Amino acid sequence: MEPGGYLTLKTFSNGKDVILAISDQGKGIPPIDKMGIPFFTTKDSGTGLGLAVCYKIAARHNAAIDIQTSPAGAAFFVNFKVPDTENAADHR
Ligand SMILES: Nc1ncnc2c1ncn2[C@@H]1O[C@H](COP(=O)(O)OP(=O)(O)OP(=O)(O)O)[C@@H](O)[C@H]1O
Ligand SMILES: [Mg+2]
Repeated sequence: MEPGGYLTLKTFSNGKDVILAISDQGKGIPPIDKMGIPFFTTKDSGTGLGLAVCYKIAARHNAAIDIQTSPAGAAFFVNFKVPDTENAADHR
């Protein structure tokens, strides 16, 4: 995203998952299927590790990441499973 754009963080629940949504006002993600592959970058000085690290962190929390993209920006939705209340004792 160019300097001056807004990065928006939101948290909400859809009743099943708790969702952390991160959206930017960049140009959106190019149509490539290498998202999250370590060291894949389209930037001159990128490491290509940003998304790979994010996917690993999400996986350690049993969360799945969905991506939406358009020319107006990209949005990443991190879906955390909510433990069901019958098994809540396991999570105390
Ligand atoms: N928010 C985004 N908007 C547009 N493209 C993105 C976005 N995030 C990732 N990408 C695309 O995916 C590629 C890989 O992203 P990743 O975060 O893994 O590495 P990087 O951003 O290139 O490097 P670094 O994270 O080290 O700055 C980027 O080079 C870019 O092409
Ligand atoms: Mg990055």
